[in-house]
Amino acid sequence: MSKTTYSTTRLRDERNAVINPIVDLKEFREIMVKQWNETLINSALVNSHQEQQPLPTLPIKIVEYAGDILKNYLISLGKKEISVLEVMSGNCSGSRFLHRTISKGLKINEWICTDIIDFTKTIKENIKFHKLDGLKAVEQYGNCVDILLLMCPPPNQIFDGNHVNPMSLCDYYLMNDFIAMNKGKNKFIVFIGELGASDGTEGLYKYMLSNSKIKLSHRQMLISSYNQFGPIEKEIFIFSIL
Ligand SMILES: C[S@@+](CC[C@H](N)C(=O)[O-])C[C@H]1O[C@@H](n2cnc3c(N)ncnc32)[C@H](O)[C@@H]1O
Repeated sequence: MSKTTYSTTRLRDERNAVINPIVDLKEFREIMVKQWNETLINSALVNSHQEQQPLPTLPIKIVEYAGDILKNYLISLGKKEISVLEVMSGNCSGSRFLHRTISKGLKINEWICTDIIDFTKTIKENIKFHKLDGLKAVEQYGNCVDILLLMCPPPNQIFDGNHVNPMSLCDYYLMNDFIAMNKGKNKFIVFIGELGASDGTEGLYKYMLSNSKIKLSHRQMLISSYNQFGPIEKEIFIFSIL
């Protein structure tokens, strides 16, 4: 009988990655923005699960669990109301479950969802959707919300040999911009997923955890298990902007 063995180093290896500073060059960034909007990501086909089923990427129970953790954390800080900008929100199913859970303890003044693709979705009037790439979303709404939320952004390596992956880096640039525009304003970045491993651009883990402009205020495991690729660790990370 064959025995399945799992690597236990995958997560650690991916999380040791460092984002190459070349990506901060203005010209590099401009090329990336053009690529997101011109390449395949601008098609519902590459994210067909989001189009075909009104479900979030993570199981509903896990999304609700994350919502509970976030709600309780904010209440513990004395918060009574919040406004949220969610980027890469897909079909907004996850947004609905998070919104429902959090609104049991806090007033939600605004929940703005954005994605580069306008998927079929069922949203109520308390959630607004705008078709925008993540960077444009932060440029337009980053000033008027308390929380920037990312849940399961696409996993990507930046370089594949000599080629740059056209789907990478939006999460990195937009968090960078949100941090810069909200210095000292008591705002948060909430990341739900496997930061810098199966969710988000590779290198994000080190970037966020060693960034002197933010502080990791809370971190909690949502699911820790294995799949055919190795260990899976979906967590909620709450960063405060200093
Ligand atoms: C795995 S889905 C997650 C969707 C949702 N957050 C959830 O948890 O179900 C990743 C989403 O990121 C979006 N996306 C990818 N690159 C993007 C970009 N540069 N700007 C905005 N959205 C992007 C995709 O269209 C897709 O909806």
